[in-house]
Amino acid sequence: MSTTRLTTTAGAPVADNQNSLTAGPRGPVLMQDWQLIEKLAHQNRERIPERVVHAKGWGAFGTFTVTHDISRYTRARIFDTVGKTTPMLARFSTVAGEQGAADAERDVRGFALKFYTEEGNWDLVGNNTPVFFVRDPLKFPDFIHTQKRHPQTNLRSPTAMWDFWSLSPESLHQLTILFSDRGLPPSPRFMNGYGSHTYSFWNADGERFWVKFHFKTRQGHRFLTNEESAEVIGRSRETYQEDLFGAIAGGDFPRWTLFVQVMPEMDAEKTPYNPFDLTKVWPHADYPLIEVGVMELNRNAENYFAEIEQAAFSPSNIVPGIGFSPDRMLQARIFSYADAHRYRLGTHYEALPVNAPRCPVHHYHKDGAMRFFRNDPGNPDAFYEPNSFNGPAQDPSVAEPPLRLAGDADRWSHREGNDDYTQPAALFRLFTPEQKERLFRNIAAAMAGVPDFIVERQLGQFDRVDPAYGAGVRRALGRSTAPMAAE
Ligand code: NDP
Ligand code: HEM
Repeated sequence: MSTTRLTTTAGAPVADNQNSLTAGPRGPVLMQDWQLIEKLAHQNRERIPERVVHAKGWGAFGTFTVTHDISRYTRARIFDTVGKTTPMLARFSTVAGEQGAADAERDVRGFALKFYTEEGNWDLVGNNTPVFFVRDPLKFPDFIHTQKRHPQTNLRSPTAMWDFWSLSPESLHQLTILFSDRGLPPSPRFMNGYGSHTYSFWNADGERFWVKFHFKTRQGHRFLTNEESAEVIGRSRETYQEDLFGAIAGGDFPRWTLFVQVMPEMDAEKTPYNPFDLTKVWPHADYPLIEVGVMELNRNAENYFAEIEQAAFSPSNIVPGIGFSPDRMLQARIFSYADAHRYRLGTHYEALPVNAPRCPVHHYHKDGAMRFFRNDPGNPDAFYEPNSFNGPAQDPSVAEPPLRLAGDADRWSHREGNDDYTQPAALFRLFTPEQKERLFRNIAAAMAGVPDFIVERQLGQFDRVDPAYGAGVRRALGRSTAPMAAE
């Protein structure tokens, strides 16, 4: 006999949770069985829209601890003292698969972090890759459509993928990572995370620096081959959840070291590449990694839906000391995520326990569906601004220094003057012969059924990265290895 008494949602004790209220032992259910109606009505509302991308995910809570002083670059409170620990949440994900997708599928992995700092939540919504497929946000929905289901067949379409990629050479860098070993880690524990975009730091003196964030796994890099992944998925579709949840439940807490690359503000005008281009990295030789701290995941969610599915990350969540950059992809994301959360979770998604800041929150937003919190500092007369009732007031001491911008408004071509080949080539040449062979084979396997003219166009792109790249993929496809003339 349980010691916990079952109640309705209104708190009334329930006498019978096994038998509906019927007219006689064989008769129909009575409409007055409000307990049955409540149960069915709640079940009908158990689903919310899944994320339009990154629907399948795995998450956990933990801490971030500062090990090295970077206060000369940023006044962000999270970094202000060596030894300081800040609570945080991580959610990892695949991009294209729906909520029921198998975990061990080749895809980019999301690496979304929420740090509950004293001056508000800082979200770093990154991936396990330092770059992305497109550099202009106008292309993001098109790109995502190629990764999702075909409108007629309702199947994933390799033709759409390679058509788009072969027409978008800026995707070559990310493509090369996706089809390399790093495109299929066996669990989130064995991959890096990158903020990917260029953000900015600003310090107590109002100086701005451009910054990139790198979280390097301390578990080491591991990968699955395509053949291993087929075998893994045949056994279990939930291997990431099993691995991450199991490791944390067993006290084997995964850790990542945070490094930053810092670029003085005016250097952005000198680099041979656009430092705000999301398809580019900053070479380490030019901007070396600076160690900052360690992230540890050490607590599983108690309720997956409440704490991981309802987690709402947004690149717009920055805190004093951290700012944006002219990266146009980042700017689209600043709009897109909060908009998605209002649709997926509702007006007051930020007040849900997993999303609520761990610092005082005082704003003048009012009402809306599911308003259940108080946000004034104790005075109900202060519900507008300016007011004479000691309502919340702005604090000029946290004003960000001006962001230098210049230029004529136009639809500037993001392709013109951009070198899409040098950095993928640097990556390709870093691979061992075995890694290159797997890259070739993974690409060839993903091209099955794609029309010839699209395959040839893509091979031409690989040739331009490195003739050995094109030749390797041709060999894996069983074609002649003579490179086609570049377009
Ligand atoms: P470096 O040799 O200094 O850096 C190489 C980087 O590549 C390291 O961060 C390493 O990450 C990563 N790397 C090593 N092996 C692989 C692999 N098999 N697959 C994917 N990444 C790997 O050179 P550069 O900084 O000049 O960069 C050269 C190329 O390396 C770039 O064009 C880019 O494609 C890739 N890269 C660069 C990063 C950067 O921020 N500069 C970050 C990640 C990749 P790790 O130490 O974790 O193994
Ligand atoms: C999720 C939009 C590019 C990483 C999402 C979601 C949207 C979105 C709408 C779903 C949010 C939700 O419902 O909770 C966009 C747009 C982009 C873009 C418009 C480009 C213009 C990127 C890039 C990265 C990234 C470049 C990584 C560097 C993620 C991650 C998630 C996500 C990790 C899942 C977050 C979570 O775990 O809840 N994106 N995205 N996205 N995106 Fe993007």
